Amino acid sequence: MTANHSSGASLFGGYYQGRNVLVTGAVGVKGTWLCLALEAAGAKVTGLDLRSPPPDSNFVLAGLGDSVRLVQGDINDLGLMQDLLKENDCFFHLAALALVHDCKARPLETYRVNTLGTATVLEAFRLSSVAKRGLFVTTDKVYRPKANDRWLETDPLFSSGAYAISKACAEQVIEDYRQDLEVAGKHFGIARAGNVLVGGDLNSSARTNGAGRIFVDCFEALIDGESPRIFSPSYTRPYTYGLDIVTGYMTQLARMDESGIQGEAFNYGPHEQGGIANAFLATKICETWGGDIRWSGGPLRNEPYQTQALNWDKARLRLGWQPAYTLLESIRDAATWYREWSKVGSVPTPGELRGIDLGLLERHARAAKELGIWWATAAAPGGMTSS
Ligand SMILES: NC(=O)c1ccc[n+]([C@@H]2O[C@H](COP(=O)([O-])OP(=O)(O)OC[C@H]3O[C@@H](n4cnc5c(N)ncnc54)[C@H](O)[C@@H]3O)[C@@H](O)[C@H]2O)c1
Repeated sequence: MTANHSSGASLFGGYYQGRNVLVTGAVGVKGTWLCLALEAAGAKVTGLDLRSPPPDSNFVLAGLGDSVRLVQGDINDLGLMQDLLKENDCFFHLAALALVHDCKARPLETYRVNTLGTATVLEAFRLSSVAKRGLFVTTDKVYRPKANDRWLETDPLFSSGAYAISKACAEQVIEDYRQDLEVAGKHFGIARAGNVLVGGDLNSSARTNGAGRIFVDCFEALIDGESPRIFSPSYTRPYTYGLDIVTGYMTQLARMDESGIQGEAFNYGPHEQGGIANAFLATKICETWGGDIRWSGGPLRNEPYQTQALNWDKARLRLGWQPAYTLLESIRDAATWYREWSKVGSVPTPGELRGIDLGLLERHARAAKELGIWWATAAAPGGMTSS
């Protein structure tokens, strides 16, 4: 991919070329990559986020402050959401409290943002005469734990913990709006992805009062020349490269008016559909980083799920989507990002990592094209190139 907007016509069937698109949670890990990928596909992006981007965040280092129109505000502000949906004909709703253990510590705020916030976005969508398509990002953690099998979109929802319940409740609210949206000719979808693995995530345990993510802890320790301490090493998670997830979201929205896609939920997960053990992930990250540092075991975390595995056959069959990267390729590109990020000085320069980010986008798009994945080929909507 390149940031040159004229080339966007060959991505996602040209759907995003010149289109006004809103991203909620734009400053977040996925939001930032989504803004970059949308720009590369030719979109004019407006971002909404509660916080202004930290100086060392990927949002700032990617130079998105210059190209994305960033609005600072709350998704629960209905008037603001209505204004934003007067200007954008489609949106991706990502804003959330997204760390399981942070949600556990702040349940009321979690329900306010993840559930009521989604209801507010739905209401603004219902009232808008401009917005015609919206994608609602939830999570694979909406599913109930299932021993030794991969989750399907038809599996029962509602597990335990504020994060999982708030997102499952959000899905029920979306369901309640289904008829109104359909009558109004609006298209929507739900995306349930596995654990993201990508550069740009700064949610280490040290930065989040113990609520961080394992792969971020790994890279942070390796940058400091220390042995990463890994909690719950035997637990498995469907670690998926962030750009594979983001391009899945963009595919689902771009093809939303096709039958079998409108109003549907889709899983997005890795090639390793049985999930990946945290210990294996940490071992491969240490090996990829180089040197002789190895991880050591930390305490077990109290989590509802010991194993998580996702079946994403529906996305493959209906959207022509599959991950462009294997686990090792995902770790390779994440390591590239964290290595470059570790060289950023104490006073970061906006746009300093833009070249790195665009290079990572481009390498990922090349891999997708070689595999014939729909979004990376010039196929028009309806002409899937993989099945
Ligand atoms: N990261 C993962 O492993 C993962 C896995 C599955 C699903 N998800 C989902 O994907 C989405 C993005 O996740 P992420 O990892 O990028 O999270 P993130 O925490 O990096 O980004 C979320 C963003 O939402 C913003 N936000 C929070 N409350 C807000 C509000 N009231 N109004 C406006 N903005 C608000 C935050 O400031 C943050 O920038 C979330 O919905 C999350 O639940 C994430």
